[in-house]
Amino acid sequence: MSKVFIAHKSDITEGQAKGFDPLNQGRDSLFIVHKNGECYGYKDICPHYGDTTLPWKKDKYLDSKSDQIVCAAHGALFEIRTGICTQGPCKNQALTNIELDIRQHNEIWVDITTIKEF
Ligand code: FES
Repeated sequence: MSKVFIAHKSDITEGQAKGFDPLNQGRDSLFIVHKNGECYGYKDICPHYGDTTLPWKKDKYLDSKSDQIVCAAHGALFEIRTGICTQGPCKNQALTNIELDIRQHNEIWVDITTIKEF
């Protein structure tokens, strides 16, 4: 298992999300939501089509109230805490969770092999 540093928790504003491209693939391969003091990581792939990224614009992963994750393509909504789709064409399917290793000084690290699966 080989882990890479992604960001400090404080780099992601509370109540917001941010995409990352740790392998320099030219697009964000994962995103992290910082909500109520917790961070949640997911692959930036919608389960509806399986090869579509979620945001319409860099880092725009959440709805207007920052309550749910939204896929811009067809408006699917996902729970921030579980990644499960609650509304939309992929209802009851889920985003792929990326386990976050939160270390000292609130550094966020992830297993590089979970990113490489794209
Ligand atoms: S590709 Fe995400 S809802 Fe259709």
